[in-house]
Formats: sequence, structure tokens, C-alpha cells
Amino acid sequence: MTAIDRRRALAGSAAIAVGIPVLAACGSNDTATDPAGAESSEPTSEPTSGDAGAAGGGEALASAADVPVGGCLVVPAAKVVLTQPTEGDFKAFSAVCTHQGCLVETSSDGEIPCPCHASRFSLEDGSPISGPASAPLAPVEITVDGDSITRA
Ligand code: FES
Repeated sequence: MTAIDRRRALAGSAAIAVGIPVLAACGSNDTATDPAGAESSEPTSEPTSGDAGAAGGGEALASAADVPVGGCLVVPAAKVVLTQPTEGDFKAFSAVCTHQGCLVETSSDGEIPCPCHASRFSLEDGSPISGPASAPLAPVEITVDGDSITRA
């Protein structure tokens, strides 16, 4: 095979390869009709600004040094409670009590206390230990980078 024959052969392959996506794109237009869902498929609006920052990844929460070992630190603006059950082991949960929605409070006594009706939650997994709350605090993903704790 000469160099010219190879070029022709490659050019022919390229033409075939280019033609395939064109055919596939044409075929997809025939099945995209859904009259009932035409308006409802529009994207919904962004989350309301009242909760701005509450769900954003990378949100700075606190300095690791501010979380007591064997205790917890509430970040009210983020509605997050950070815990450090043992030194260097950080966890985070929703700070909204599962009983009636009060914010839990900062503590260094080995549990996460709720001031409203005295529920207490585990530093390890947010599970209820005592009081009227029967559901655990929801876990929150965090990243600890040096002394900085951010929402993951
Ligand atoms: Fe927390 Fe009732 S709201 S114990």
C-alpha cells in the first residue's frame, strides 16, 4: 500500500465516522415530543435567599480549635453543630433539634444538649440519648483542612 492509498483509506474512515453522529442527532428529534410536560419541564427557580449559604459546599464553618474535645460547637448561621468526640476526630450534624426544632447548644460535657426540653444527643452519631427527641440529628458532610472546617 502506498502513502497515497493509506491517506485515501483514512479519509474514507473519517467520512464514515463523521456521518454517524449526524444520523444519530437526526434520529433523536423524532421522539422528543411531550405536550403535557412542555411547560413543567422548565427549570425551577434557585433556592430562596432566606437560606443562603446553608447548603453551599465549601462554606466556612469554624476553626477546629474552637470545637471542644469531648464537646460541641454550634454554628447558628449555618444551623450546624460540630463535635469532637476524641481529639482530632470531627463530626457535624444539623443543629436543629428533631423534637420541636430548637437549635441545640454549644457544650463541653460529652453530649449535644437542646435547651428547650432537655433532649441530649450523641457527639459520635447525633443519636438521641435522652429527652423527648427520638430521632437523630441529621449528619452534615464536612472537610477539615488544617484548622479550617468547611461544609463539604
Ligand atoms: Fe429540642 Fe424539644 S426542641 S428537646
